[in-house]
Amino acid sequence: MSDKDAKTYPPSDEMAADAHVNAARYTEMYEASINDPEGFWREQGARVDWMKPFSQVKDVDFTLGNVKINWYADGQLNVAANCIDRHLETRGDQTAIIWEPDSPDDEAQHITYNELHGHVSRMANVLKNLGIGKGDRVVIYMPMIPEAAYAMLACARIGAIHSIVFAGFSPDALGARVNGCDAKLVITSDGAPRGGRVTNLKDNVNQALLNDFDDVKCLVVKRTGQQVAWRGDLDFWLHEELEKVSDDCPPEAVGAEDPLFILYTSGSTGQPKGVVHTTGGYLVYAAMTHEITFDYHDGDIYWCTADVGWVTGHSYIVYGPLANGATTLMFEGVPTYPDASRFWQVCEKHKVNQFYTAPTAIRALMGQGNDFVTKCDLSSLKVLGTVGEPINPEAWNWYNNVVGQGRCPIVDTWWQTETGGHLMTPLPGAHAMKPGAAMKPFFGIQPKVLEPTTAEELIDNPAEGVLVIADSWPGQMRTVWGDHERFEKTYFADYPGYYFTGDGCKRDADGDYWITGRVDDVINVSGHRMGTAEVESALVAHSKVAEAAVVGYPHDIKGQGIYCYVTLMGGEEPTDELRTELRNWVRNEIGPIASPDLIQWAPGLPKTRSGKIMRRILRKIAEDDFGALGDTSTLAEPAVVDDLIENRMNRK
Ligand code: WTA
Repeated sequence: MSDKDAKTYPPSDEMAADAHVNAARYTEMYEASINDPEGFWREQGARVDWMKPFSQVKDVDFTLGNVKINWYADGQLNVAANCIDRHLETRGDQTAIIWEPDSPDDEAQHITYNELHGHVSRMANVLKNLGIGKGDRVVIYMPMIPEAAYAMLACARIGAIHSIVFAGFSPDALGARVNGCDAKLVITSDGAPRGGRVTNLKDNVNQALLNDFDDVKCLVVKRTGQQVAWRGDLDFWLHEELEKVSDDCPPEAVGAEDPLFILYTSGSTGQPKGVVHTTGGYLVYAAMTHEITFDYHDGDIYWCTADVGWVTGHSYIVYGPLANGATTLMFEGVPTYPDASRFWQVCEKHKVNQFYTAPTAIRALMGQGNDFVTKCDLSSLKVLGTVGEPINPEAWNWYNNVVGQGRCPIVDTWWQTETGGHLMTPLPGAHAMKPGAAMKPFFGIQPKVLEPTTAEELIDNPAEGVLVIADSWPGQMRTVWGDHERFEKTYFADYPGYYFTGDGCKRDADGDYWITGRVDDVINVSGHRMGTAEVESALVAHSKVAEAAVVGYPHDIKGQGIYCYVTLMGGEEPTDELRTELRNWVRNEIGPIASPDLIQWAPGLPKTRSGKIMRRILRKIAEDDFGALGDTSTLAEPAVVDDLIENRMNRK
């Protein structure tokens, strides 16, 4: 792949003519953004309404020990006012959010901007009544219901900082995140229906907060009406609290560099880190990328299938679309419930124009056959998008031919929790797409490919190496919550002067970019980021496990699966029952998304003489690529590798 022979798909004449950005405009804007970042971003700053205008645009230093990232620093604004209030005059009666419930038998909701204003203002007043103010942290642990968006915007309205925890995380993982950001309040629901099954969210919150959290309140949305246990006077029903408040809640003026949210994400070492995004630059970048990448036009119906528990849900379900006055669809369910036609039925029902999903969903649906798609009327679709992991050409072609009927450009958006918004993607009216390529940098983004060991910049094409970014952009994360040193060490130490993405990348002969996947110990399971270290520490917390090493391996649907090498305590029997027990154990410690796919018993693990586990070798064994183990001479005990290969071949 990735050479001059790869088939390319140029934009249609119609798309090139109508799009916000065509090829010439892309070049002109990109050059302006690099040659005069101050001027470029000053102009883009006008995308949002400021309560106090900014005079400074950019104040950035990537030098290790002194890393600072500031955009529009002396400006003040309110994100909720930008996402709601400023639209009321022109589009108060337009639908802001379409909510599609888990079951197609239940009715969808259409929430107008006027209604959104009321919901968010009242919820903001409830938060105030519960003692939440500017700078306080609020954890949101919710199903995909409109109240999740209201909760985010209510926090933003009063300047509180939200931290959303994906509802698929376990009570332990939730507790760690509540603790990590010292939250005063958790917002949840009684239960969360998904794919016809219910997760007992309030029970999970109770478990998470059982010990040591007797000062954390909980606000509960009634979703299923199921029985829930109450923690004395710490718990509140949202519907009861709403009765006590008015819908008048003036938006707080918030500094551009005050935090908007914290979102925990996995890294290659240790426990998840709290990625901090601030207010002004983030909103400018989310709004701009949403409009240009998806070529969103007024009146379009836009649907991103992500969950608000991930960054994609933050930037491209809530903040970007609503800042642009868009109609954004929120879906509570899963792609395969009641059957594999659900996504396409929802597209038909709500006449979706832009559809944004993950390669793992595309692969899963592709395997179910074309009828589920072709029986639906998808003529409203204009632009398709993918995010979360590299998309294989087979899935890309299916998405293009069967879903897009060969007439919808596919934007393969490469970005990260840390980047706040898209960093590389083809633009629908500007670029000839190549299946599997992230293609071109967004405005202001300067990608560089470096030789991994020497850090030398690779100038000529083609090139392959690690991907770094040479300068800041407004949506960049600012710090790790409570640990600026970890922020600097993670992103600015390995390749001085650059933001290190953790991804590998190729630049082809045409100068187009292809993301090749993580180069660190982060794996990408169904588009969800997972630190192998987290799964390892869950495994070794089990009393029968002496040691564990976790790697990713190629998985047809998930992209990568979780492969665990486990060394048992002396005397423990390696049985299938124990495999099941360990699998359930990890699900309980982290959540179902971390379920091990394969567990191999390892009498010993390959280690260097200094005791470092050589994951490179373990990855090759998991891939059944025994011929490519590379240099094993530095191993303390080379024989363990033979044992592991033998066990792998015997699937033990
Ligand atoms: C991977 C999700 C290839 C990449 C927005 C990145 C991708 C990690 C793509 C971030 C893409 C995301 N092509 N790889 N289009 N999009 N990735 O933080 O490895 O959950 O570093 O953010 O996903 O995952 P995260």
